[in-house]
Amino acid sequence: IEEKFIDSVLATMSIDDKIGQTNLRGTSSRAKTLSEELKEDVRQGKVGALLNVMKVEFVDELQKIAVEESPNKIPLIFGRDVIHGFKTIFPIPIGLAASWDTDIAKSSSRIAAIEASSVGIRWTFAPMLDIARDSRWGRIAESPGEDPYLASVLGKAYIQGFQGDSLNSPTSIAACAKHYIGYGAVMGGRDYNTTIIPEPLMRNVYLPPFESALGAGAATVMTSFNEINGIPATGNEFLLKDVLRDELKFDGFVVSDWDSVVEMIAHGYAKDEKQAGELAANAGMDMEMTSKAYEHHLKDLIKEGKVTERQLDEFVKNILRIKLRLGLFETPYRDKANEANFYKEAHLAEAKEAAIKGSVLLKNKQILPLSSDTKVALIGPLADAPLDQMGTWTFDGEKEHTITPLKAFKEADVNFKYVSALTHSRDQSKEQFQKAVNAVKDSDIIVFVGGEEAILSGEAHSRATIDLPGAQEDLIKILHKTGKPIVLVIMAGRPITITNIIDDVDAVLISWHPGTMGGMALREIIYGVREPEGRLPVSWPKEAGQLPYFYNHKSTGRPANKEDYVAMYDIPVGAWQSSLGNDSHYLDIGYTPHFPFGFGLGYTDFKYDDLQISKDTIGFAETLIIKTSITNIGERAGKEVVQLYTQDVVGSITRPVRELKGFQHVDLNIGETKEVTFKILAEQLEFTNHKGIHAAEEGDFNIWVGSNAASGLKGTFYLKK
Ligand code: IFM
Repeated sequence: IEEKFIDSVLATMSIDDKIGQTNLRGTSSRAKTLSEELKEDVRQGKVGALLNVMKVEFVDELQKIAVEESPNKIPLIFGRDVIHGFKTIFPIPIGLAASWDTDIAKSSSRIAAIEASSVGIRWTFAPMLDIARDSRWGRIAESPGEDPYLASVLGKAYIQGFQGDSLNSPTSIAACAKHYIGYGAVMGGRDYNTTIIPEPLMRNVYLPPFESALGAGAATVMTSFNEINGIPATGNEFLLKDVLRDELKFDGFVVSDWDSVVEMIAHGYAKDEKQAGELAANAGMDMEMTSKAYEHHLKDLIKEGKVTERQLDEFVKNILRIKLRLGLFETPYRDKANEANFYKEAHLAEAKEAAIKGSVLLKNKQILPLSSDTKVALIGPLADAPLDQMGTWTFDGEKEHTITPLKAFKEADVNFKYVSALTHSRDQSKEQFQKAVNAVKDSDIIVFVGGEEAILSGEAHSRATIDLPGAQEDLIKILHKTGKPIVLVIMAGRPITITNIIDDVDAVLISWHPGTMGGMALREIIYGVREPEGRLPVSWPKEAGQLPYFYNHKSTGRPANKEDYVAMYDIPVGAWQSSLGNDSHYLDIGYTPHFPFGFGLGYTDFKYDDLQISKDTIGFAETLIIKTSITNIGERAGKEVVQLYTQDVVGSITRPVRELKGFQHVDLNIGETKEVTFKILAEQLEFTNHKGIHAAEEGDFNIWVGSNAASGLKGTFYLKK
């Protein structure tokens, strides 16, 4: 029925009408009035979709023109970057990834969809599924982290949340799996840079999150800005046709990134706008964002036989299919019953929950949680910075609705004073530092909320050094000299190197950019109403110079962890400065990250015992059962994220030293023990090798169950043909 309807609409369309559908027109987000030119273009059917129409009245008016006056009466889709919330802002995606929690990922995108659809937005340019292994890259903030498994389960959850049970529900918005593909692999972490991704790496690391998102029904896919092995993603026929359409059976539409069609000229892949359009069209790129190569040249390219009309028909069908699935032909207008559905109590509660679940405690010298009568000096540049707290890609969240730590502390019955210490600049005068020092004198403890302003991460905001910017380290060192314990809270869009100051502080809590309710979440964590529940979705580097770093790296022929990778993490900080011999390490910082992937403390401790593996050897059709018991050996109830890793010891291509295969959240009361069970099937051990063979291979496997990528109880098994 769907295809019949689409064919019937297509049959009424001229070539110009068809080209109009491939046009995603950008509008100025600051426009106060609707331009007559845009209205006329919509009236003439020259526009298929719009992005960043910020006013709901404009959305209504343009849709009315499209469905009542345009040649084929085809509704428009309104798209926007609803990345981590619409009005109610959730933690930035790396912070949501730190929750390792698919339920909260799903509910965050569900709430974003409810709020955004209430102003007529039915398409978001999210989720971003780019594996990010280099913290210098500004868009690591928007990524699901470094691991393909974690990114895949989160990606699926985001799609389910955005798109709801059915795409045609008025509160569902079409998701966009982006950026296809390899954008996170930009060399040196410099945004838009070149990538070189051999096919096994592409298939084993960068593709799985997209496969998962498409499996969950992602309606659209966005091409990435980067070139891959010499061919820009936007003009890459192999990726768009062979992989996305033929292998993965994607039947939604592909949109380019902003101007990425014409940027193929700057890449040195197309000589002019016309050739850029030809290359994108023949690669199978359906809808062009903002640039106009299709609008200007597709008709001529078809006349000249360089692009077939059949190809254009495919584009239009893919686009109409999604418009139809969104129910836009029947219900083009937003649902008035869902009007201005913003900042509802339930939305704010979930945003606070997400911020708690994504907060990662890296160090705690028995200082947290604090009791409410502790005299706190709340200090630091992000203690009251609502816009920075919301993070990158926040178009619609408002600072008036944002609860900063200062605001949250003020609303509670806690003993604190606030010392404003703006340290964005290294020229901070000593006088101001002295003021801060004087002010903390009569406090018991310092809570320093620092980190990065929101503009230091996100698109085109890569950094070569990733330490605390400005004079923050200087001030922390001065405050340390007062002898007062320091709790360092970091709000940032990426892992921040803290090796210079780690010994000067007593606790380190990573809030990322925690969104609207970040201050409230922080207050509950600091005072022990809740514990921080997050785990690192990326390895935390010691220095930018060791990037890219990721836990699931290869061994090399001269691994530094000769004895046991796990045991090496127990060496004290500083010991890595001693000579490690002729192996793969840095003379000055060794080879380990500062904190491993999966790491995160709570307010209690856990003990893992009794790893049981059901069989020494399993066949390809068998299931391996792995069990372990875990006990809460601390003094309060707590939550653990139990992680399962495997290593394929010998492969037809070399295999990572560890790979995450599963995780479970476990709640344990004081003294309680629970048994945790995982299952492994041969298909979870599959990978693609240099010959393009995708299979699990017979051989030895190591297995670990533990609390991060550098620890765990270890076992082995053999996979037999
Ligand atoms: O969605 C974004 C994309 O991630 C980066 N370039 C601009 C797009 C639309 O705003």
